[in-house]
Amino acid sequence: MKKVIIVGATSGIGRELSKIYSRNGWAVGVAGRRDSLFPEIEKEMKGKVYFKRIDVTAPESALLLKELISEMGGVDVVVISSGTGSVNRELDWSKEKETIDVNVSGFALLAGTAFRYFCGNGGGCVAGISSIAAIRGGDDAPAYSASKAFVSNYLEGLRKMAIKNGFPVSIVDIQPGFVATNMAKGEGLFWVAPVEKAAQQIYEAIGSNRQHAYITRRWRLVAWLLKVMPNFIYDKI
Ligand SMILES: NC(=O)c1ccc[n+]([C@@H]2O[C@H](COP(=O)([O-])OP(=O)(O)OC[C@H]3O[C@@H](n4cnc5c(N)ncnc54)[C@H](OP(=O)(O)O)[C@@H]3O)[C@@H](O)[C@H]2O)c1
Repeated sequence: MKKVIIVGATSGIGRELSKIYSRNGWAVGVAGRRDSLFPEIEKEMKGKVYFKRIDVTAPESALLLKELISEMGGVDVVVISSGTGSVNRELDWSKEKETIDVNVSGFALLAGTAFRYFCGNGGGCVAGISSIAAIRGGDDAPAYSASKAFVSNYLEGLRKMAIKNGFPVSIVDIQPGFVATNMAKGEGLFWVAPVEKAAQQIYEAIGSNRQHAYITRRWRLVAWLLKVMPNFIYDKI
């Protein structure tokens, strides 16, 4: 039986993705801080499910991930979906810091831990949920877009490290546009994808070993526009 761990699986994209893996016969390791939700999540799952309370900002989170892997008797795929972000035009430092702690430090610690595990244990896949926001700096939530640029760039670094050294680790960078979860806040949202559709496309992208995927696929167009848009236009929209 194939095994997946999803960090940040107590709600939103991660929770939906857990259900899809479970329906498809995978053993699933569910991680997140809100352990009070674990019994409810267990009822949604079809097969074997493991739970671990992990706060990615805590130094012991790496140890807890390794503990979960060992309780599951190994793992094939680790998806890091944990993330946070706030509209923060006032640059309130506590909000900026929380975003950096979760999306940058927490992400790097767990992605690195999973990567090293796979290097020493026959290989596997590390997938990270970045964002379309990674492409350009954002004025509504500067730390959020910067943190997602870190996620995508870090994943690219891990991929290069795996390829150059012959490590049997594949790396998948998922960049969603808007998805209908608690995280999709703010004004001017468009093309908001149902979480079920987004999670299904993420499952397929990881399964087909894609290096990168926009979710949903139409966000490829927005990504392209953001990449080619000159600063004098981007700064005003
Ligand atoms: N929704 C969108 O429009 C959108 C677009 C692009 C990218 N994304 C990315 O998609 C990912 C999932 O977000 P979502 O939309 O599904 O929102 P969500 O429902 O708020 O899910 C966020 C998940 O992250 C976990 N998390 C937050 N802080 C954590 C911490 N310190 N330690 C461990 N887990 C933590 C939460 O679990 P606990 O609270 O239980 O810890 C929760 O399971 C995020 O990385 C987000 O940036 C979302």
